[in-house]
This record gives sequence, structure tokens and C-alpha cells, in this order.
Amino acid sequence: MKKQIIYILSIVVITISVVGGCKHHPIIPKKQDSLPIDTNIVKPPTNPKDSVCFDEEILPILNSNCAMSGCHDPGSAQEGIILNNYSNVQSTISSNKLITYITTTVSSKRMPPPPMSALTQTQIDLIKKWINEGRKQNIDCGKGCDTSNVTFSKTIGPIIQTYCQGCHSNSNPSGGINLQGYANIKTYADFGSLLGTVIHDPKYSPMPKGGNKIDDCKIAQLKIWLKAGAPNN
Ligand code: HEC
Repeated sequence: MKKQIIYILSIVVITISVVGGCKHHPIIPKKQDSLPIDTNIVKPPTNPKDSVCFDEEILPILNSNCAMSGCHDPGSAQEGIILNNYSNVQSTISSNKLITYITTTVSSKRMPPPPMSALTQTQIDLIKKWINEGRKQNIDCGKGCDTSNVTFSKTIGPIIQTYCQGCHSNSNPSGGINLQGYANIKTYADFGSLLGTVIHDPKYSPMPKGGNKIDDCKIAQLKIWLKAGAPNN
């Protein structure tokens, strides 16, 4: 009888440990399996809050500084490099090449090439961080949307820098439009074209040109700032 109890007990213990042990197993392979290839089909895993979000932080920089017509959009594909979306970035440029091009001090090799400005150190550091984290896509970033402390210096300036300034800076004012510095940005804020272009109002050319519409959170922040009179705060 005692033997039987020990036998049953040990089966229970073994079963619990096997089932319990398995519970944690599938998570790791699943994460790797679901690394997205086409963003329209596979939804990537939620991004840990402190890691880089490709669609919100890296793609806008590439779109504004690299993926324009004549350079690295699908139609031009200079050197075979296409930087307009995640799968093209993954398949057409190595991390080494990317870092070398954006950090070199040899101006004839540097990307984006003169007269365009080089990427800022913050942008370069962000791209490096993204590479170190494994070049993940991380669309579903869950970074939250802060609409209570919207300022030009902390909120609006960085959005324009990331999404617009590659094409609209002192050195590269596409369409004759310079969005570098508060005074210039304020001009287009007052015209209404700053908002009109980003919300894709049919009266304006949709911006960022050739890229994804900026997300609702940033549009909400822009509206809050505009409603407050577009202050230099
Ligand atoms: C890839 C390059 C590129 C990016 C990125 C870009 N623009 Fe433009 N933008 C252009 C070009 C080129 C024009 C000239 C008109 C056209 O071709 O549509 C233009 C025109 C404009 C105009 C005038 C259009 C009108 O209808 O009055 C505004 C305003 C503007 N951009 C704002 C922005 C803002 C704001 C952003 C960022 C959210 C941005 N752009 C991002 C290339 C770009």
C-alpha cells in the first residue's frame, strides 16, 4: 500500500514538473518564429518600452534622409540599397555598411551625401542601438501617448526633425520649404500647411512624402501645440 502511494505521488510530481516545465518553453522559439517579414501579415511582438521601435524611430529617419526618389526608394535603388520599409532594409543593407556610410567623415562617402546634412549624433546612436538589439521591427511599441506636456522643444521639434528635416532643412529645402528651426516651422504652422500635409488633407501634398502617415499620437500632439498658438516653449 505504502509503495503504491509513493508510486502515485511520484507520478503526480513528475507530471507537474513536466507540464510546468513545458509551459515556459515555447515562448523563446515562438518569438523567433514570429519575426516579421511582411508587416501586413505578421504582427510583431510588443516592443519592450526601452527598446528601439523601428516604425516610429528608425523608418522615419530613413524615409526622410535616404529613401527619396533618386536615392534609395524602390525605383532608384542606388547600389541595390532600398530603405523604404523594414523588409527592404533587412534584405538590402548590412549593419556594417549602414554604420560605415552614416558615420564616415570622408564626405565623398558619407550618407546622406553633401549638400544634405549628415545624420545627427542622436540619430546615429539610435540606429546603433537598434542594430545592437538585433534589428527588430517592433511596430507595436506601446510607448504611450503623452498629450499633457506638449512643448516645441521636447515634442514638436523632435517630431519634425525625425519625420521631415531630412527633406526640409537649411541644406535640403525640398519644394523650397525649410523646416529647420522654430521660426521656419512656425511659418508653416501659421499657413496651415504643416497640419494639412501631415493629416493628408486633400488640399495639400501628403507628407512625409513617400512615407507612412505619422501616427495618431503625434498628430494629436501637433494639434495641441497648434491650438495653443504654436508657442516656442
Ligand atoms: C522624402 C522627402 C520628404 C519628406 C520626408 C517630407 N517632405 Fe515635405 N515635401 C517634399 C517635397 C519634394 C515637396 C514638394 C512638393 C511635392 O513634391 O509634393 C514637399 C512639400 C511640402 C510642403 C508644401 C506642400 C503643400 O501642399 O503646401 C509642406 C508644408 C511639407 N512638405 C511639409 C512636410 C512635413 C511637415 C514633413 C514631415 C512630417 C515633410 N514635409 C516630410 C519632400 C519631403
